[in-house]
Amino acid sequence: MSLIALGVTGGIGAYKAVEIARRLQKQGHDVVAVMTDAAQRFVTPLTFEAITRRQVVTDLWTPGTNADIEHIALASQIDLLLVAPCTANTLGKFAHGLADDFLSSLYLATTAPVVLAPAMNTNMFAHPAVAANLQALQARGVRIVEPGSGYLACGWIGKGRLAEPEDVVAFVQQVLAPAPSALRGRTVLVTAGPTYENIDPVRYIGNRSSGRMGFALAAEAARRGARVTLVAGPTTVAPPAGADVVRVRSASDMHAAVMARAAEHDVVIMAAAVADYTLDQAPQKIAKSEGPLVLTLSRTRDILADVGALPSRADGRPVLVGFAAETHDVVAHAREKLARKRADLIVANDVARADAGFEVETNAVTLVSADTAEEVGLQSKEGVAARILDRVEPLLSKWPAPAPAR
Ligand code: CTP
Repeated sequence: MSLIALGVTGGIGAYKAVEIARRLQKQGHDVVAVMTDAAQRFVTPLTFEAITRRQVVTDLWTPGTNADIEHIALASQIDLLLVAPCTANTLGKFAHGLADDFLSSLYLATTAPVVLAPAMNTNMFAHPAVAANLQALQARGVRIVEPGSGYLACGWIGKGRLAEPEDVVAFVQQVLAPAPSALRGRTVLVTAGPTYENIDPVRYIGNRSSGRMGFALAAEAARRGARVTLVAGPTTVAPPAGADVVRVRSASDMHAAVMARAAEHDVVIMAAAVADYTLDQAPQKIAKSEGPLVLTLSRTRDILADVGALPSRADGRPVLVGFAAETHDVVAHAREKLARKRADLIVANDVARADAGFEVETNAVTLVSADTAEEVGLQSKEGVAARILDRVEPLLSKWPAPAPAR
């Protein structure tokens, strides 16, 4: 049994928070409701008091409650802070560290896990300011229960409706007592970032990959208990703690680094943007001349395909995940790549979108296997990484022979 602070903020979904409180109690948890002023316009504190059988916190300034600085006392007692519904205003306050009421002070004062279930109008949810606040909070480890889509109280149809009470409660249960991950004790190799192909001692051909997607995968795999090797091309973003980092520069360096290690890993995820072409580096800086400069490029070796060509698990073939950048017919092209490179899963990026892929912190992908295609909507790269690993886990548990202990 856990003590859960249920923050209720001022949205029409506040009435569903009553059902959430009831369901949390049915799971054996003790619930203390914390209501903002606006929430009390939708539902009365008395309702929550009757359900939770605890005094409802409504005010930072109630005389008597500060004898032991209540928000600090509660902050250290709770096992989890859940805010459902969480309005755009409360999201903004949490993201920016404002503490002008009990709930926002509680958020800053607690070190317990925080779960937010946003609910608001579709356009508000889609607004870049709200998206940026959500991202900042997720980057700090706050978990978000995605709102549902459908008919909203404001008469609009779209995304923004508070997630269903049973889904919110299932999410909370998973945070409080996560199911053991199939990745625990397994080994995962992730490639990340661009590769640079040297033209001469001062120039190179590169690409815009930041490495963030691969870094998010490495961090999430480590969080799930895997031993992680991260083969990273030249990036300015810092790699996550908890992974053994192997730095490489060119596609050929990356090929060598991955092929030397692939057979020792249960999973290989090729998130790097590997150059398809390279060239022989000129020994000295090429001085300019009047005419055009002609560089002859030659094909690099396809690392993903070479790992896919490893004959069997016994010969070291890992569960293999590749990425694909597509602008159209995303699933068909990804499936063709899946078969050609003998991968188990292809993460297809729709690079026609401005808010996904290179140089941004969000991504939207389709996870393509031989017989399924699952769309993962726009979210942080950390969120996408979790969805990718959720798909890898069942593949791994079906894998005939786990790699021997190393
Ligand atoms: N890849 C690789 N070695 C290369 C090139 C790419 O391992 N020399 C991997 C990438 O890390 C990625 C996947 O292959 O996982 C991308 O496949 P690719 O065939 O290069 O597809 P696209 O980049 O989508 O481009 P295209 O459609 O032009 O083939």
